[in-house]
Amino acid sequence: MNLIKEINELKKQKNAIILTHCYQNIEIDEVSDFVGDSFYLSKMASKTDADIIVFAGVYFMAQSAKLLSPNKKVLLPNLDSGCLMSDMITRDDLIAFKNKHPNLPVVCYINSTAEVKALSDVCCTSSNAIDVVKNLGAKEILFVPDTYLGKYVESKLDDVKVITYNGFCPTHLRIRINDIENARKNYPSAKILAHPECHSEVIKLCDFVGSTKEIMDFCQKSNHKQYIIATEKGVYDRLCRDNIQNSWNKEFILINDNIVCPNMKKNTLENIYSTLLNETNEITIEDEVAKNAVKCIDKMFEYASLAV
Ligand code: 13P
Ligand code: SF4
Repeated sequence: MNLIKEINELKKQKNAIILTHCYQNIEIDEVSDFVGDSFYLSKMASKTDADIIVFAGVYFMAQSAKLLSPNKKVLLPNLDSGCLMSDMITRDDLIAFKNKHPNLPVVCYINSTAEVKALSDVCCTSSNAIDVVKNLGAKEILFVPDTYLGKYVESKLDDVKVITYNGFCPTHLRIRINDIENARKNYPSAKILAHPECHSEVIKLCDFVGSTKEIMDFCQKSNHKQYIIATEKGVYDRLCRDNIQNSWNKEFILINDNIVCPNMKKNTLENIYSTLLNETNEITIEDEVAKNAVKCIDKMFEYASLAV
């Protein structure tokens, strides 16, 4: 069976779209309507008039799509594809964190559960975190769950104190100072690009920090010849593909071979096909949680658009 052809047929029959994160297995792009970072995909989820959204990403991404498109069927091909960082803070953990630091607004990274979003003031993604915190206008904030994105935001803003929760991304923390130092030595004229989930000491040594899509856009537009990619392998795979397809004549080097998010790789053409065919693995969210969580995402769109 030609899975790509079958999935594309099913999409037409069922008025479905497939939203795909840049860390997914690259062959999924062949059946995708939109491929990008968390912010781009949540915008696409809020705008679509499809009846079904298949989310090729991790659980919190599909949950965010459901919050933004409550009347659509949102399907996640493998329900076990969670985000280890988002699972580091529960609703009760957040309540305890807020009690420890009372009366401060909570900014939550989109890599969090709907329950955590429901108790937060505003949400952000890696591509808009600085603008969201700036436009929130508070002198002191709580930032959950990613301590490194929180510290990065603080380093970019004057006069905002960011108290961070101690969550982190195990995949991005595999990138070590050593890796960057070696890359500099071996490729002295290369640009080094990192995701803000990397350790603060790693980020300080890089030339560009941005979301997955921002890293890809930078590589496409820049005139440099060599790029070291310090984020998940899916970004590197797509850049290598685009380099060949578009004859860029650039060279891409992955910072270290084991920068792979295992949960992101749980979606495959096979489980996308069966999920769409049988309309299984539907995301549902309790009404009360959804009502509050969506406010937090709507605020993100408001504060992020103030920046444009
Ligand atoms: P982006 O918003 O940059 O796509 O990042 C999501 C993510 O999970 C990175 O680990
Ligand atoms: Fe979560 Fe890290 Fe995987 Fe992104 S790379 S989905 S933050 S575990």
